[in-house]
Order: sequence, then structure tokens, then C-alpha cells
Amino acid sequence: LGKNLYFYETIDSTNNELKKMAAEGACEGTVVIALCQTEGRGRRGRRWQSDAGSGIYMSVLLKPDLPPTAVQSITLLASSAVCKVLEKYVKSGLGIKWPNDILINNKKVCGILTEMTSEPDKVQAIILGIGLNVWNREEDFGDELKHTATSLCLNTDREISRTQLVVEILKELEDLYLNFVEKGSSAKFMDIWRCFSVTIGRDIIVIQGENRWQAKALDVLDDGRLLVETPDGKRQTVLSGEISIRSC
Ligand code: BTN
Repeated sequence: LGKNLYFYETIDSTNNELKKMAAEGACEGTVVIALCQTEGRGRRGRRWQSDAGSGIYMSVLLKPDLPPTAVQSITLLASSAVCKVLEKYVKSGLGIKWPNDILINNKKVCGILTEMTSEPDKVQAIILGIGLNVWNREEDFGDELKHTATSLCLNTDREISRTQLVVEILKELEDLYLNFVEKGSSAKFMDIWRCFSVTIGRDIIVIQGENRWQAKALDVLDDGRLLVETPDGKRQTVLSGEISIRSC
């Protein structure tokens, strides 16, 4: 990954740019990085704060020979890879909230936006967008984010280089991705994911559009679905949506 790497000072969104490149035939492993995004996008149509110099804004093109359902696994694979890198910097409090929010002491430090183009039964391209808050100070987060977001520099004693972080993340991603596509097994990254999970075993609220319901998170299946139990004892899986963790 990253043999073809395009670096921009300012761009609307690295995911948008890589999507265009994918449509023009860019090869697997192409990476787009920007110092600043003017229209950084988060999940569910939200904006991703992308100030110059604060974070890593990066998108990676993957073309696995897999059905479209694999996209959820790739998302979990990516959060596992980022956590493997961040654990070298952060002593405690690092966790993943299903499906792919990386938290430090319950505040979000990294988000992953996975977008896909596909044929009916085959992935054409997966655009894996990673936004990691690195140098943000508390006052850089506006009112909306100041209680829910954090950055790496606020949580580490180690020296930080964004270039080094990018190299380490791409290396971990490549390792887990090749293991997944070559062995056809998600065991390796799911072990890491479960190890960092702050979701499994917790009482949660599942948010799906306007719908909100309570459940207990029991496990995450290898295909990325969340297995939950509702208060009436019924078990079901959640494929997409968002959760919030209920504090006791
Ligand atoms: C989330 O909502 O948690 C996902 C945030 C993803 C942000 C990254 S930054 C690089 C890439 N380009 C975008 O426009 N979004 C993703």
C-alpha cells in the first residue's frame, strides 16, 4: 500500500479525490493524503474537522476480490490496524466503539469512512478514509466537539511525527489486509478488534435513522455485524447504524 501516493496541501476530501482516481483506473494500494480538507466528510453526512496541520487525512484504495458484504469487515480491519499503531503511543484508555470509532478515554481520536463501488456480487473499489486527530489542542475543538473529541498529542508522552504515523498505519493495514484476502480469514484482525472493543458486554442504544432502541452488545461476528440482546431476551444482529454506550 502507498507505492502510488498523492500528497495535496489542500483538497476538498481525500475520499472524493481517490474515488475519481478509482473511476479512472487507479491501482490497488493508491493513497491520497492532504494537509487540509475543505469538505472533509464523516459518517452519516457529518463534517470532519480537517484543519491544516492538525491531523492525518488519508484515503486508501482497495480492490479485494470479494463480495460487497466484505466492506464492513474492511472497516473493522482498518480500526484494528490504527489501534495497533496507537497502542505504541497511548498508555491507557484506547478503545474501539462499534463499528469504527477509535476512542481514548471515551473521546474520539480517529474516524473511518469506508465507501464502495460494486457490481451486484463483487467489489469494484473500496475507498478507505482515515481521519486521525494528531496535533489538535483542546481549544481547537469547537463547542460541538470539545466534550467528545480528543487528539493523539493530548494523550501521549512520545514524540510524534505524522509521516511516521502514516508509514506505521499503512504497514499495519497492509499486513492485516493481505492476511485477510490471502487466507480468507478475518480471525487475525477480529482478535485485535475484540481486544480493543469497548462495546462488547455493554448496555447500548442502537441508533438507526430516527429509530433508537436499547440492547446489550454480546459480540461482533466475523463479518462485522453486532450481535445484541434486546430487553425481552431476543437476540439479533445489527448490520449498520450507530450506537451509544449507556453509562451505569
Ligand atoms: C467518521 O465520521 O467517524 C469518519 C471520519 C472520516 C474522516 C476521513 S478524513 C480522510 C477521509 N476523507 C474524508 O472526507 N473523510 C475521511
